[in-house]
Amino acid sequence: MNRRFYVTTPIYYVNDIPHIGHAYTTVAADILARHNRLAGKEVFFLTGTDEHGQKVEKAAVEKGRSPKEHSDLMVGNFRNLWVKLNISNDAFIRTTDNEHIKTVQGLMQMLWDTGEIEKRSYSGWYCTPDERFWTEKDLVDGNCPDCGRPVEQINEENYFFLMSKYQERLIKYIEDNPSYILPDTRRNEVLGFLRHNVLGDLCISRPKQRLSWGIPLPFDEDYVTYVWFDALVNYFSATKYLAPDANSTPPIPPLTKGGSEGGGDWWPADHHLVGKDILTTHAVYWSTMLMALKIDLPKNIFAHGWWTVEGKKMSKSLGNVVDPNAMVDKYGVDAFRYFLFREVPFGLDGDFSEEAFINRINTDLANDLGNLLSRFLTMAGKYLDGMIEKPASHTASAKGLPGQCIAAVKSANDIKNWSELHFNIILDHIWDMVRAANNYIAQREPWKLAKNDPKGIRGVIFDLWNALRLTAVSLYPFIPDTTEKIWKQLGLRSLTEEAKEIQINGCEWDWDPGYEIKVSKGEQLFPRIEKGKDTAPIPTLAKGGEGGFSDKSSNLISIQDFARVEIKIGKVLSAERVKKSDKLIKLQVDTGEQRQIVAGIGKAYSPEELVGKKIVVVTNLQPAKLMGVESNGMLLAATGSNGVPVILMPEKEVEEGSRIK
Ligand code: ME8
Repeated sequence: MNRRFYVTTPIYYVNDIPHIGHAYTTVAADILARHNRLAGKEVFFLTGTDEHGQKVEKAAVEKGRSPKEHSDLMVGNFRNLWVKLNISNDAFIRTTDNEHIKTVQGLMQMLWDTGEIEKRSYSGWYCTPDERFWTEKDLVDGNCPDCGRPVEQINEENYFFLMSKYQERLIKYIEDNPSYILPDTRRNEVLGFLRHNVLGDLCISRPKQRLSWGIPLPFDEDYVTYVWFDALVNYFSATKYLAPDANSTPPIPPLTKGGSEGGGDWWPADHHLVGKDILTTHAVYWSTMLMALKIDLPKNIFAHGWWTVEGKKMSKSLGNVVDPNAMVDKYGVDAFRYFLFREVPFGLDGDFSEEAFINRINTDLANDLGNLLSRFLTMAGKYLDGMIEKPASHTASAKGLPGQCIAAVKSANDIKNWSELHFNIILDHIWDMVRAANNYIAQREPWKLAKNDPKGIRGVIFDLWNALRLTAVSLYPFIPDTTEKIWKQLGLRSLTEEAKEIQINGCEWDWDPGYEIKVSKGEQLFPRIEKGKDTAPIPTLAKGGEGGFSDKSSNLISIQDFARVEIKIGKVLSAERVKKSDKLIKLQVDTGEQRQIVAGIGKAYSPEELVGKKIVVVTNLQPAKLMGVESNGMLLAATGSNGVPVILMPEKEVEEGSRIK
């Protein structure tokens, strides 16, 4: 078996603010990376940003920055989101990395030296936003067929990669390698396109006088490299300097003229994950570039489907671009990760709605999984003081829960499911196990056994512990944070270490970690979400914002981010306790305008003592409901000793409504 596994995401345009679509591909790659690490493979998981080209140059000019300064600032949006989404990428490539630039130039030179590139004068229709040339017949109503925007006619000399001569070879390659492009529908689309169209040559240069922000052609200093040629090479160049042990592989240049150029032990990649929007560039441009370079093709290009939001295309102008940062803040990282892969088969288009999202959390995560764990822990604590032991002569019945679970784990681990990325089917199998365990509780009625069958109750608790243990292992790639929590609550130490052993040695029912097991109840995994009560509209990205730019290794936020938080001095006009709550107090506060705030300070303060006090309030929070009472803002308080809240108040007299900066 191949012990190495290399998976990539597209390198996203550094200029964009990441949204649910970017999160989708990257979490998918993370799931594959985590699964393969658990299976004992050495993994290289690469993501990164695409930083050259006209769009970045234009945005930088508008902001009064150099393109590199602009990229340096914007790249933080992606790095930070990947930390927040618990993405375990091993490296982050930027196309402005020196090593990448050298590789692009090396490969470009090689194609030039071997006659795969020609200089020609050219006249075509150019779409500036898409940075693509089109022929007259491609245009739709005189506009770009991709984005519908106007195109301009350009006449210039450029360099062309002789892509057309690889058309037949590429068709044959795709026919001979059925898993090269997945899913099958996409493979058939590419084949259909290649069989029924004449493939042109690919313009791989841009004159510097028109675009200077790119990698200079090594053989003509008046030109830079076309951004897609530069970007696609990232998958290969990263194996030279970012992959584990990259230093031990031969450095790029020297490139052997006309010879095969290996990428070290990491090439070819196992999967390039991409959205269907960029399948052609990968399946046609990248494949033929590699053929011309005599480099092996990746093992698989998987083009997943497209997310829309409540039936509409996401767009900044509609203001419906789903913000993954806000989704995670609101619902938690694992609820978001789970939903993306449970709801829609990877490969098909999906529609996002908050209602479907909440339904999924409540049914699958809060009810099925969360309740199973919670009931198990309560019973194990109550009946056996949390101690888990295999009772003597306890057998793992093939027909009962053990058999069902082991069968479910085997199906969930099925190689075809993983190599063809059937994430929703894998989750289906895992849920067979969760449901079987819930049914087992209903059938065996442990509360009855606890009264008169000490061996019986120990056996049932042992079986449930095993079912939860195998559920946690199987679910780990999808919801790593939560499964680590389950693992700890099951009395075990390190999921990633111990589960590796389980994955490799099979899923025996009598797996013994080699130490005493005492389970203990921890925090609730997924609290139920009350529809319409605790929910505000889908968190979307602000139009035209730049997001935050902090560094991956730290928790810092930018000054721009901080400036988005509006904090003011407020004066408490009146206060009263929220009915049936000893913690919540409802306050009417003057912050320059009157607003109602609900604060969890009732155990430390009485309503009477708050009236007339000056306090500090965050005034631009989305409204929330606490025990059915609307709160428009947040009062700032420190957590004092024993968790008692201590309200922040200004040290000197200051007008209500004053802004804190
Ligand atoms: O195309 N649904 O970068 P990009 C699902 N730099 N996935 C989506 C999506 C949606 N609505 N929107 C975006 C580029 N994506 C190039 C790539 S690679 C050598 C160069 C995801 O920032 C999906 O993976 O436009 C799509 O292919 C990618 O983001 C496009 O990212």
